[in-house]
Amino acid sequence: MKAAEFKRRRRQLMGMMGPDSVAILPTGGETVRNRDVHYPFRPDSDFYYLTGFGEPNAVMVLVPGRRHGEFILFCREKDPEKELWDGYRAGLEGAVADFGADDAFPIDDLDEILPGLLEERERVFYAMGSDPAFDKRLSDWVSQVRARSRAGVYGPIEFLALDHYLHDMRLYKSRAELSVMRRAARLSARAHSELMRGCEPGMFEYQLAAQFSHHCQMQGAAHLAYPSIVGGGDNACVLHYVENGDVLRDGDLVLIDAGCEVECYASDITRTFPVNGRFNAAQRALYELVLEAQLAAIDKVRPGNLWIDPHRAAVRVLTKGLLRLGLLRGTLAKALKSEAYARFFMHRTGHWLGMDVHDVGDYKIDGHWRELEPGMVLTVEPGLYVPRGAKGVAKKWQGMGIRIEDDVAVTKGEPDVLTRDVPKSIEQIEALMA
Ligand code: GLY
Ligand code: MN
Ligand code: MN
Repeated sequence: MKAAEFKRRRRQLMGMMGPDSVAILPTGGETVRNRDVHYPFRPDSDFYYLTGFGEPNAVMVLVPGRRHGEFILFCREKDPEKELWDGYRAGLEGAVADFGADDAFPIDDLDEILPGLLEERERVFYAMGSDPAFDKRLSDWVSQVRARSRAGVYGPIEFLALDHYLHDMRLYKSRAELSVMRRAARLSARAHSELMRGCEPGMFEYQLAAQFSHHCQMQGAAHLAYPSIVGGGDNACVLHYVENGDVLRDGDLVLIDAGCEVECYASDITRTFPVNGRFNAAQRALYELVLEAQLAAIDKVRPGNLWIDPHRAAVRVLTKGLLRLGLLRGTLAKALKSEAYARFFMHRTGHWLGMDVHDVGDYKIDGHWRELEPGMVLTVEPGLYVPRGAKGVAKKWQGMGIRIEDDVAVTKGEPDVLTRDVPKSIEQIEALMA
């Protein structure tokens, strides 16, 4: 993504903040996994959204109208010895030259410099509560400024939730963001298709998970957006099953929920297909029902509709179908009212998607479901889960978990299914696996 995109975002935020304000946003440090080994570092999404800066131990400060520059980056200094061991650092020079900072300071000087940046600033934009240690430091800096009030220095009097402003911005994807999300979606879609093509009875769940990572990494996506879920048969009924340890059996379905991350943007796809490449009659009936629900839900992803409309459409189709197949009893009206479907479909039909797989952004405004608007991206992922031993359910339905998940962008017109490249009709799946 180009530096101009990050600059545009900072401008937009500073426009909302107004003069006499300051925004402070840290990214994390590295976390020890075990002695001398760290977990792979992933920058804080909000921080990366505004800076494009992917190193640990950094703090962004925005000071609208500051004469010596509005965008200040505190980061690690260049250090040939440390870089020899641990890799390249942009340093203060790089922060300015490559990331557009107006000013850059060593992260170790934060306590010394930050109080001065709070002087004469009435409003502080900061996400309180996400990092208690940093909250404490900020409150110390504010106290230091207030202690100088007799010298005529005035400090902040108002604190505002930076995350609230940023998360609303992040909900509306720009053209540049959509293009990165499209790429992540395409890579994941290709990987899912390869898994479908190569799956055979006797393989292990972890082998499909490994193949998914392999395909993504071979195409340049180093990271997954979340740990892959590969559940054969009954395992698919555990919603966040990540053990991926069992063998895939002839006659079972397998559910794969996996997506890669590109430039810190997520994709999130689920497909369910027969391990041996052919649906049996019961699998076919339940699968067709979930697919019908998913298509009905996707058709509701249109501007002016409410966030909840796709979910309501899916629930209606699923309930009707469950009644028809005999998994539920009674009338449609009663079954909808009592939410009887929830026994077999216990999650929502989707979530916002962006830099975080369960992305930020409010689903309700003033207690009312939000309207969909162009630029929003969400997943549509209805499912049906019938575990082995489910009481009062015919044997033929048991041991099946089915979910079909696509990533969909709201446009002025038709829903834009970013993940459309993975087959999902029974004909397409059986043809690919034949
Ligand atoms: N992969 C997590 C989800 O689908 O929400
Ligand atoms: Mn998913
Ligand atoms: Mn999802």
